[in-house]
Amino acid sequence: MKRILVTGGTGYIGSHTVVELINNDFEVIIIDNLSNSQIDVLDGIEKITGTKPEFYNIDLADKTKTLDLLSQIKSIDAIIHFAAYKAVGESVSEPLKYYQNNLNSLMNIIEAMKTNNINSLVFSSSCTVYGQAKILPVTEQSPIIKADSPYGNTKQIAEEIIYDSIFADENLKGIALRYFNPIGAHESAEIGELPIGSPNNLVPFITQTAIGIREQLQVFGSDYNTTDGTAVRDYIHVVDLAKAHVIAISRLLENINKLDFEVFNLGTGVGNSVLEVINTFEDVTGEKLNYKIVERRAGDIEKVWADTSFANKELGWKTEKSLGEALLSAWVREKKYRGV
Ligand code: UFG
Repeated sequence: MKRILVTGGTGYIGSHTVVELINNDFEVIIIDNLSNSQIDVLDGIEKITGTKPEFYNIDLADKTKTLDLLSQIKSIDAIIHFAAYKAVGESVSEPLKYYQNNLNSLMNIIEAMKTNNINSLVFSSSCTVYGQAKILPVTEQSPIIKADSPYGNTKQIAEEIIYDSIFADENLKGIALRYFNPIGAHESAEIGELPIGSPNNLVPFITQTAIGIREQLQVFGSDYNTTDGTAVRDYIHVVDLAKAHVIAISRLLENINKLDFEVFNLGTGVGNSVLEVINTFEDVTGEKLNYKIVERRAGDIEKVWADTSFANKELGWKTEKSLGEALLSAWVREKKYRGV
């Protein structure tokens, strides 16, 4: 059994990936400091898979603790590094918090890999590296333009840190996965997306409004150059996204990667507007959403969606779930979590 260390493994994408890894016979070790997740996510993972992964709570930005822990955990075959802060707005007001956490943790992980002979790394990157692309859909070759936020900049710099580290070390190899907008929850509804505090992202805000925790959803902007004037994103079911991580890690472990550092877009290839997401949510759940159109949100781009052909071909992966299925799963999870 290959042993995979998953940092940020109790987080939203991390926990869904842990489930897919265990279901594909990997042994998982999680490191998470619970800064934006809760320990009982481990119980959800156990209910789904029958296995409770080994868990360590340390701050990966602490170099001594990271190096100590990774030398104690024996026989790690590969690492998936999710752990990072991800609130775009907060990163603008507290940039150093983002640079310190997101970059130091990555550098500490790479250093620990080198000292412990761990050679394979899968990294959580983001479509935010493309900013507002001039040509859509975006391919992996689309230009990386100056980031709109410190958060986005940490993803750009992180990819460069990984690239340079791999270039300098013949043993290291890695894959950066550029996520579009992950939404939804595991079909069991035992795990899902649970941001601490008021959600920044659209879908948790929708489900929390529908269940009555938030009074009203604000739709940020209706004067974009899109079909209905609201912004367009490529919403991907988190389980489809999680499955791509199993393929990426296997690709590295089986040495079938074509380059030492590879980059893939993970999206559906389809863009949907905010109003389309709201209408689809109402259709599939039968719930009426209280929403209001307000000003644009600072830092938002108008539209982006993925060209998925490279990931489809190279990884032999494509998304299987629709927007409606993703939204329904998020709603089922919200209700189960709230005991409704
Ligand atoms: N939106 C609303 N109302 C809300 C929340 C969002 O109208 O209450 C709109 C946004 O304006 C945007 C769309 O819904 O048009 C999606 O917004 P999200 O906040 O869900 O996601 P983003 O596209 O802004 O994605 C950003 C970064 C990603 C990052 C993600 C996670 O671009 O890289 O946030 O925080 F991963």
